[in-house]
Amino acid sequence: MPHKLTDSLSALSLAAAQSLMQTASLSNLENWRIHYLGRKGEIPRLLREVKNLPPADRQIIGQQGNQLRHDLTAAYEKKLLSFSGQLASAPASRPAQSPVEVRPGHLHPLTLAGRDLQTIFYQLGFQLVEGPLVEETKYNFDLLNIPLEHPARAETDTFHLPDGLVLRTHTSPVQLRSVLANGLVPPFQVYSIGRTFRAERTDASHDHTFSQIEALMVGDAISIADFKGVVEYVYSNFFRQSVATRLRPSYFPFVEPGFEVDMSCVICQQKGCRVCQQTGWLEMMGAGMVHPNVLRNMNIDHHKYQGFAFGGGIERLAMLRHSIPDVRLFQSGDLKFLRQFS
Ligand code: PHE
Repeated sequence: MPHKLTDSLSALSLAAAQSLMQTASLSNLENWRIHYLGRKGEIPRLLREVKNLPPADRQIIGQQGNQLRHDLTAAYEKKLLSFSGQLASAPASRPAQSPVEVRPGHLHPLTLAGRDLQTIFYQLGFQLVEGPLVEETKYNFDLLNIPLEHPARAETDTFHLPDGLVLRTHTSPVQLRSVLANGLVPPFQVYSIGRTFRAERTDASHDHTFSQIEALMVGDAISIADFKGVVEYVYSNFFRQSVATRLRPSYFPFVEPGFEVDMSCVICQQKGCRVCQQTGWLEMMGAGMVHPNVLRNMNIDHHKYQGFAFGGGIERLAMLRHSIPDVRLFQSGDLKFLRQFS
């Protein structure tokens, strides 16, 4: 017996089949599924009405409804498979879809700066040495002639770990370690590159995690003139322009005399600019002639040999090279920043 619901079922079947044919994307298909087969969709709604029919009609209409649900589910699954086939095989055959942008990876600006430094130190005959990031206080402080009462040992500057370990606050312990571990005897020249950590408040020119380059040269006739020659060679090659340096007296417990190294401004060539605050000079790093106590701690006869050491931030070098305004950008993971170096 023909029934109003039977008409609705065939109308629904036709509409569903037609709109399924027109679905052109996975999200369209999902909308289709929700509209017809979803919990509040057309088919379940219709099937809920079956129970209000007279018993004679109930069975036959119920069967028709279930059959329709079955058929539409099968059609849906077939369509779903056809989409996954398309996605896997040939995106190019669907010009309507925008192409996926593929960007090759590239090196971090600090890695690039570090590699350039390695080339330069290699040219000068320095040997690369390494040390751990988690350091014993013995190497980070004691053997470097940094006494317990020195401000660098205060809680505020150092990340302390259990068992007397620290995150190294500078790369100077690597000098000691490498000389002791390799049993180096003068003359030798070593350098090291790596991460360092300080428990400091961060700002545009300070970060808790940064990188240093450290060098140590020991022999029986090493002077400050040698030091100046090496440093000017390094900076001139790194910045690809001829630079001058000047030394100002300073204090570091592991050197005597100690100094701060200034470099002629590579931005304005000493004409005066904002970066060098119109002075023509940029503060670059700490250095000095290795303290006799430290030479002794390296098992080196300090009456016969002497040497220089220097250590400074690599971020500073990269910031000057690329006019980077804030040191925190290096660790930010900000792709807009990083992609400029691809
Ligand atoms: N280790 C010092 C620092 O981190 C730098 C330095 C290295 C100074 C070698 C003198 C000699 O500040």
